[in-house]
Amino acid sequence: MRVKDKVAIITGSGSGIGRATSQLLAEEGAKIVVADINPAGANETVRLVQEAGGEAVAVEADVSKEADAQKIADTTLDSFGKIDILVNNAAAFIFKRVENTTEEDWDKILGVNVKGPAFCVKAVIPAMKTGGGGAIVNIASISAFIAQPDYVPYNTSKSAILNFTRCLAMDLAPFNIRVNSLCPGVIHTPALERVMADMNFSLEDANKHWGEACFFNRLGKPSEIAHGILFLASDDASFVTGTALVVDGGYTAQ
Ligand SMILES: NC(=O)c1ccc[n+]([C@@H]2O[C@H](COP(=O)([O-])OP(=O)(O)OC[C@H]3O[C@@H](n4cnc5c(N)ncnc54)[C@H](O)[C@@H]3O)[C@@H](O)[C@H]2O)c1
Repeated sequence: MRVKDKVAIITGSGSGIGRATSQLLAEEGAKIVVADINPAGANETVRLVQEAGGEAVAVEADVSKEADAQKIADTTLDSFGKIDILVNNAAAFIFKRVENTTEEDWDKILGVNVKGPAFCVKAVIPAMKTGGGGAIVNIASISAFIAQPDYVPYNTSKSAILNFTRCLAMDLAPFNIRVNSLCPGVIHTPALERVMADMNFSLEDANKHWGEACFFNRLGKPSEIAHGILFLASDDASFVTGTALVVDGGYTAQ
């Protein structure tokens, strides 16, 4: 077991990649705090983890609110007594041209995707310091590196995560806290299904449009991202900090 007896907070874990990561880290021995703005999704993830023999609790929280980030940390300490791992996975998805992006859109995307991870990190630092270290994994995206048509707000927010990660890695290394980003390619999750619905795409269309842009002619699976997160969160990555792991089936290699 690669994260045995570790305590992991995973934000946005009521769905998609966050749920798959909760399930995998629980299988690998961690106790999971499932933090999501959607309590029904969070409770379902807890049910799935417990059904498989793992330990998890749900916290309803909007990561863009500092008080909610603190609530996540407090609930974790009350439930499990320590914090070893934070996965900043919750995200808003706003895909627009800059001409059409409103002030409200910018507040939302930067609030959830940039301020949210910052608030969560701030809330867990005291417990990680007390515990002698920790691992933080920030979920960015291949959208952090590339231009995509009509993706300005989302891609801007995801780029910010890459340097957020580097700066944090430098500041937190003296406390034995490692900080890395993981950049998924196009992964078949409920978020992608919403994009597909907006584009009137079937699964076949999606596999063709995005799958053929990578080397494997298919979409990625949430579990394939979860395995990358497990690596970065575990002691297997003990000398890995301040970097970005790209898990995209070769999408950005060509
Ligand atoms: N699916 C992809 O193709 C893809 C590609 C690259 C990066 N990513 C990134 O992976 C992560 C997970 O994406 P996903 O596809 O699993 O999405 P998803 O929509 O399936 O899950 C996101 C979860 O975040 C929660 N959430 C949203 N706003 C929140 C908030 N303010 N506070 C707390 N929880 C909130 C939602 O309720 C949902 O449960 C995101 O950071 C996303 O940007 C996804």
